Amino acid sequence: MTTIWERLADHRAAQGETRMESLFQADPSRAEEFSTSADGLLLDWSKTMIDAGARDLLLELAAGAGVEARREAMFSGAKINETEGRAVLHTALRNLSASVQVDGQDVIGGVRATHDRMAAFARDLREGRFAGQGGRITDVVNIGIGGSDLGPYMAVLAMAPYHDGPRCHFVSNVDGADIHDKLKGLDPATTLVIVASKTFTTIETMTNAATARDWMAGSVTDPAAQFVALSSALDRTADFGIDPSRVFGFEDWVGGRYSVWGPIGLSLMLAIGPERFDEFLAGGAAMDAHFRSAPLAENLPVLLALVGIWHHQICGYPTRAVLPYDNRLLRLPAYLQQLEMESNGKRVAMDGSDLTLPSGPVVWGEPGTNGQHAFYQLIHQGTTPVPCEFILAARGHEDALDHHHILLAANCLAQSEALMRGRSLDEARALMAAKGLEGAELERQARHRVFPGNRPSTTLLIERLTPFALGQIVALYEHRVFVEGVILGINSFDQWGVELGKELALKVEPLLKGEDAVGHDASTRELARRFRLLRG
Ligand code: F6P
Repeated sequence: MTTIWERLADHRAAQGETRMESLFQADPSRAEEFSTSADGLLLDWSKTMIDAGARDLLLELAAGAGVEARREAMFSGAKINETEGRAVLHTALRNLSASVQVDGQDVIGGVRATHDRMAAFARDLREGRFAGQGGRITDVVNIGIGGSDLGPYMAVLAMAPYHDGPRCHFVSNVDGADIHDKLKGLDPATTLVIVASKTFTTIETMTNAATARDWMAGSVTDPAAQFVALSSALDRTADFGIDPSRVFGFEDWVGGRYSVWGPIGLSLMLAIGPERFDEFLAGGAAMDAHFRSAPLAENLPVLLALVGIWHHQICGYPTRAVLPYDNRLLRLPAYLQQLEMESNGKRVAMDGSDLTLPSGPVVWGEPGTNGQHAFYQLIHQGTTPVPCEFILAARGHEDALDHHHILLAANCLAQSEALMRGRSLDEARALMAAKGLEGAELERQARHRVFPGNRPSTTLLIERLTPFALGQIVALYEHRVFVEGVILGINSFDQWGVELGKELALKVEPLLKGEDAVGHDASTRELARRFRLLRG
């Protein structure tokens, strides 16, 4: 019997040289039919080669993979992160009126209590009741890496129009240049340092935290008084010397890359205030409610996941570009890189067997229009199609600069149109003829100006990038990753693949110091020798 995967592959093969434009010609309602919305957020997925037949097969795939049952298991607190024996409940951080149990215990009471303590602290700091040893806190430095950095950093940048709190800075890299450059110009006496680390053992974060404490100690008598910890490891935060009143904890059922909704989002809360932060949570909760209740065929995260599966596993396109036409979503591609690649970059299925399909794609991107002047050349004329995910708001925040926004939007729509339509050889010949070229030179020049077209894209359209809309977008992508993981049969919530490099780094360190060199390969030993030589 043919599997659903084989039927999808056959369907794709049968499409042959069919072009997207012909799908639009055959179905005048395609643009509406292949657009789906929820709470003001619209996903247009019509500029793809997913026709009605492919859509039905993809929906059958999702249903057959048990997406609905798995979704319910996640929301209700079952331990679906089976390799770590944990529940997956970041959704509980943004739905404070729900009732969710883990191991027979209601978890929402604790979540709400921590949220309220964070909000009280944020108000105290923003209103000057919590101050530094030199006066009101003017700057906040969040020290964290991976999920303890990417989420809050991305969101703080995205929410710039709503900033009315202290300035926020983010230090993640163990490269001393990062912390040096971020602390330069800050006054330790009016700076709050947030040490954000779920485990409170991550070498980059702990090294940067110790450096920040030394920096602070040079200027104030009680450096620890200007430190806050965000962590699941409360014993370790105490060892670091941070007073429990400034420690905001969370449970092991919040994965690092899903943690911006809780304590790890403190910098965002300080920047925009608890009320705006709650709007961000409400956006996430609205997407949760949609994801949990909408039928698969009208379900935004499910459809976005199926578009992803179609492009990567069925069409074989190796990468996916996220292209926000919003400069403040500068860090969204990096955030999604961790969310998608750490979650679904796996080679073994949940049951330990080898994955028979490719795992998640490489995710990358950059805001438009900047990307247009850098890598879009390859997207339009390179040999391998790159499915593009455009994100656009109907309105910017700079009303006086609305002409900029119209131009921005025109570029966004033009790009997806150009990707689909392309430019034929005959059109290119006509262009060259109009320039006065003829014969072999016309032919040669025309070929360089051909765009194959038929290149897929989706467009996510929102009214404006508000805290609510940002919450919707982030939760949309989280659930999309989850659905893709369920369909591929993998555990999207562990990350064993980051461990080996971490372990070896600890063993390479002595090698660089000229200590014990046993157990390393010849290349690594030689590189270390040359490294030491260059250092003199
Ligand atoms: O390197 C992987 C990772 O475990 C991520 O999943 C996580 O977001 C990051 O490190 C930071 O971990 P922690 O918050 O424990 O410092």
